[in-house]
Formats: sequence, structure tokens, C-alpha cells
Amino acid sequence: MSMKILVTGGAGYIGSHTCLQLLRAGHDVVVVDNLVNAQEEAMRRVQTLAGREFAFYPFDVCDDNMLDKVFSEHSFDGVIHFAGLKAVGESVSIPLRYYSNNLVSTMTLCRVMDRHNVKRLIFSSSATVYQPGSPMPVNEEAALGCTNPYGWTKFMGEQILRDIAAADPEWSIVLLRYFNPIGADASGMIGEDPSGIPNNLMPYITQTALGRLAQLSVFGDDYDTPDGTGVRDYIHVVDLAQGHMDALNYAARNTGSVAINLGTGVGYSVLDIVHAFEKVNGVKVPYQIAPRRPGDVAAVYADPRRAKELLGWQAEKGLEDMCRDSWRWQSMNPKGYAAE
Ligand code: NAD
Ligand code: UFG
Repeated sequence: MSMKILVTGGAGYIGSHTCLQLLRAGHDVVVVDNLVNAQEEAMRRVQTLAGREFAFYPFDVCDDNMLDKVFSEHSFDGVIHFAGLKAVGESVSIPLRYYSNNLVSTMTLCRVMDRHNVKRLIFSSSATVYQPGSPMPVNEEAALGCTNPYGWTKFMGEQILRDIAAADPEWSIVLLRYFNPIGADASGMIGEDPSGIPNNLMPYITQTALGRLAQLSVFGDDYDTPDGTGVRDYIHVVDLAQGHMDALNYAARNTGSVAINLGTGVGYSVLDIVHAFEKVNGVKVPYQIAPRRPGDVAAVYADPRRAKELLGWQAEKGLEDMCRDSWRWQSMNPKGYAAE
């Protein structure tokens, strides 16, 4: 059955891929994004790829009046809430901006949803809500706790949403805890476009392979992992997008709130990623071993069983797809969405 979905933060990396997947599956989307970390060009490309137009509203989700108007103009079957600030380091220097943006947007959205009797919500949470030192693979029952303001905004966002679902049995809320999304749509037309020097591994690798950055610093080679470098659960953004569609279907059949990991269950080290990237794409990624990055842990990877059980979802794409698709996007768009 075709649904009409409000996607907040739909112009961003994961949001744009999810919009495209929803459109390709025959659903309708409406996007609200204030473009604080995205380009409108991403929305144009999604429309081109899907062969279909949709409404795009460039404003802040914290704006109750504007959001209310959007809910008056459209009748939604559900909401996917991607909008949020996500840079861990930045959240340590400007915590108030992170708490206000990420929590006020979530609370405003829920208030407006409630007013319009739309009570189906998929929330972008993160593996970062798990207490550091949790045994791996980590499942959804593990203890929660964070080390930076960004993480706490996800922790608190989850708690607010659990309380809303507990107070009103008509709500259906899925808290998706993403592991490390990389990759891009196979067209190479949309992808991750960080502003400035990337913090995350894959965009750093692709920009190094381009020659825009001189070399990758591998943060630590003395961790208790097979090759000493950090291990993470990298997941293809297209698999992640599919997880949101499956979560919407789940939310249509169930009420209450539930947290679900979206990861592959497989951990790869930094050097595994570098070597796979070089091999699959036939390019060099110069690197040096550097000191550990403060706040990093040795290994984080998911127990993905609940997603399979409840959503019927599991990751389909492997490391080679992720490396190939990330490089296709970057090499076709050396400056991201910015015009040459
Ligand atoms: P992104 O920055 O590319 O997308 C977020 C989008 O939200 C951006 O387009 C930004 O302009 C928009 N936005 C931010 N605040 C807004 C506001 N107040 N009103 C309207 N729009 C606003 O990030 P992403 O990687 O696509 O992540 C999407 C969501 O998933 C975020 O909530 C992020 O915290 C979460 N998440 C991401 C990762 C990751 O590694 N990429 C991991 C776990 C969780
Ligand atoms: N790394 C490097 N060099 C770099 C960048 C990263 O060696 O230049 C290493 C890191 O030390 C880590 C791995 O590559 O071992 C992955 O690092 P990322 O920065 O790409 O990702 P993180 O696992 O640190 O964090 C990501 C998101 C967070 C989210 C978390 C959830 O950035 O927002 O996943 O698990 F909370």
C-alpha cells in the first residue's frame, strides 16, 4: 500500500537515500530540511533519479508554526525524523546548540504530530547510545550511556519518545540505532558530502584517493583487535534506507516503542577498509599510523538479530559494494554537490 511520509532532514546523507528508496517503491515523500548540513541540489537529484517531484520545505523543524502548516497541507501516514546535528567533536565545543537543535526539533515534531493525529514515527538513533565497554556484538538490551553531548541528545531523544509511546497507546515509534553508514546509490548521483575536512573514515579515504587530502591518519594501531586498528560495523546506506521502509511497515502493524539495531553484525578494521577500497577501485590510499583519537573504542559491532526478527530486515550489501559505491559517488562528484 502506498504511503505518504514526512521526512525531516531528508536532504542529508541518509535522508536523501531513504527518500529515493521510498519514491522508487511508489510512496510519496515530503521533505523538511533547513539545509544546515545539506544542499538543495541533493533534492533535485533525488527527483531526477526517481523521475518524480515532491514537496521540499526549507525550514527548521523547531519551528512549530511552519511545521503545523505542512501537516495541514498534507495527510501523512508516518514520519521519519533524520533532522539533527551529528558531529561528535563539534558537540563537545557547542553543546547547547546540539541539545537545543536535536531535542527541540524532536519535541516540536511530536507535538505537531500529536495535534494532527499522526502517531507513527521512525527516529534516527545511533550505536553511540551504548555504554562504552559494552560486550560485542551489542544487542538492544545492553546498558546505555554516552561520552559526548551528541550521544546524549540521541539517548535523551530515545527516552522522550519511549515516554510518549508509554503515555499514549496510539503511538508507534521505532528507534533505529545505526552503526556506521557508508556507500552511496549505485547511480553515483547522490552521496555523503561533508563540509570541510571529513571526520569520518570513508569520506576521508575517498578524498585522499582523489588527492584532495594528502594522506589518511589511521588513529591507533595498538587496539586489542586482529590488526590493532579500530573495528566498526560498516553498513551500506542503501541497506539502511531499506531498513527505514521495513520499520514503517512494522510501525503500521504495531504500537508502542522499540529500539532496533541496523548493522551487519560484521566488524571491519580501518586497515580492512583501506585495503578493500584500494583493491576494488584500483586506487592508492596513502596512510600513516597516528595516535589514537580521544573517545574512540577498540570495536563496535551490532547484534542484528532483532531487525531480522521484527522487521524481516538484514543487510544485503558487502564491503566491496560499499567501497565501490562510495568511490563512484566521490569520483563522479569530486567537489560533492558544489558546482565545478
Ligand atoms: P546529515 O547531516 O547528512 O543529515 C541531517 C539533515 O538534517 C541535514 O540535511 C541537515 O541540514 C538537517 N537538519 C539538521 N537540523 C535540522 C533542523 N533543526 N531542521 C531541519 N533540518 C535539520 O546526517 P546523516 O548522516 O544523514 O544522519 C541522519 C540522522 O542519522 C541524524 O539524526 C544523525 O544524527 C543520525 N545518525 C547518523 C550516523 C552517521 O554516521 N551518518 C550514525 C548514527 C546516527
Ligand atoms: N578513523 C581513522 N582515521 C580517520 C577517521 C576515522 O583511523 O581519519 C577510524 C576511527 O578511529 C574509527 C573508525 O575509523 O576506528 C571509524 O571512525 P568514524 O569517525 O568514521 O566513525 P565512528 O565509529 O567514530 O563514529 C560513527 C559516527 C558517530 C556515531 C557512531 C555510531 O561518526 O556519529 O559511528 O557507532 F555515533
